[in-house]
Amino acid sequence: MNFWFKLSAAFAVYSCSTIATAATVEVLHSWTSEGEAKAVEVLKSMLAERGHTWKDFAVQTGGDNAQGVLKQRIIQGKPPAAAMMKKFNLQRWERLGFLQNIDDIAVSEHWDDTLFHAAEDAIKFDGHYGAAAVGIHRTNWIWANKKILDKVNAKMPETWPEFFAVAEKIKSAGYHVVAIGDEADQLGTMFESMILSVGGPELYRKAIAELDYGAIKSPEMSRVFDMARKLQPYLYMDSDSSWNKATKLVIDGEAAFQFMGDWAKGEFSVAGKIPMKDYICAPVMQTRNQFLYNIDSLAMFKLHNAQEIDAQKDLASAIMSSNFQLTYNRYKGSIPTRQDLDLTGFDICAQMSKQELLNAEATNAELPSIAHGLAATELVQTAFNSVISAFFHDPNMSSDQAALTLSKDMRKGAYMM
Ligand code: GAL
Repeated sequence: MNFWFKLSAAFAVYSCSTIATAATVEVLHSWTSEGEAKAVEVLKSMLAERGHTWKDFAVQTGGDNAQGVLKQRIIQGKPPAAAMMKKFNLQRWERLGFLQNIDDIAVSEHWDDTLFHAAEDAIKFDGHYGAAAVGIHRTNWIWANKKILDKVNAKMPETWPEFFAVAEKIKSAGYHVVAIGDEADQLGTMFESMILSVGGPELYRKAIAELDYGAIKSPEMSRVFDMARKLQPYLYMDSDSSWNKATKLVIDGEAAFQFMGDWAKGEFSVAGKIPMKDYICAPVMQTRNQFLYNIDSLAMFKLHNAQEIDAQKDLASAIMSSNFQLTYNRYKGSIPTRQDLDLTGFDICAQMSKQELLNAEATNAELPSIAHGLAATELVQTAFNSVISAFFHDPNMSSDQAALTLSKDMRKGAYMM
């Protein structure tokens, strides 16, 4: 049975099992790259099967922009039915009383028993659910073009010394070493993996997960900045490059590596590339079995029309269904948020991701991404990404200065609402 046949059969079973009351469901999200758009199509089709009409409220160019647009809509008293957002933003809207309580669905579908711990934590606040969790992304990945590695006769580096040795070979062969767009969140994504890699899970936990300002300005953090300076000459930092344009440079064989979350895999997939044959996915050097998670969720906003509320609950239920989890996440590059699902049919990168998530859970090395809003509020997240970007733009900023500024700015961000 081919994939598409299975997919349509799955939708058919799903749609027959529930009673549909047709309504329009407006969803705000920023999944606009080619791979992401394909993943979102899965959800749209599932809703259509239930008789509902999906109204796309897609916002180009990333999360920050999307959250700004959302705020305006809420202030105008016209929230969408659902909006893509991360744990801390979600908690804020929940606290302010804007989210729909969907505990009835969660209880009847046993979300407490099936969700990965990190996913449950990302969407449950004060014991109540106000959102559905679509997928678990990992940010401490490095992606490589296999042909380039073969050409310079190199293996995927597993340590920083190995990385720099391979980087020299790649440079001499005339390729860009690391593709990265000059955007704060791309630099932040790379740097958070470096904190884990160079400082270890202990530094990451203290400085980032627990926001211990002493740990942020510590000599250990300075060492992470030292490593970033050493890496800088190998970055091909395109000023006009979104993350997926950087991925394309790796796909097209112009650059060897990209440090990026596994949404990048969606781009390799739509380009028809096969993992381990055309490209390699690997944990960032020295972070094997450690996992920085970034969980995408759709917050459900309070609505007034009964039909629209039913349709919204259908959306939440569809998201948590095994059919959705198993199809959407294959396109998106993430893994399901439910731990009871078998990943047969997923590629080797996803299999590795699930296994390493379980290993990280068991060893206390499963940690939230700061660059993508799972570790702290949006203001702290923005402060983090901005300081990292400032460091890469100012060659005179020392590592100690950078660590001190990071500590100050993150603290400032945490005090503001
Ligand atoms: C993340 C989001 C991912 C992907 C990425 C693009 O914050 O969780 O799904 O869209 O941004 O940079």
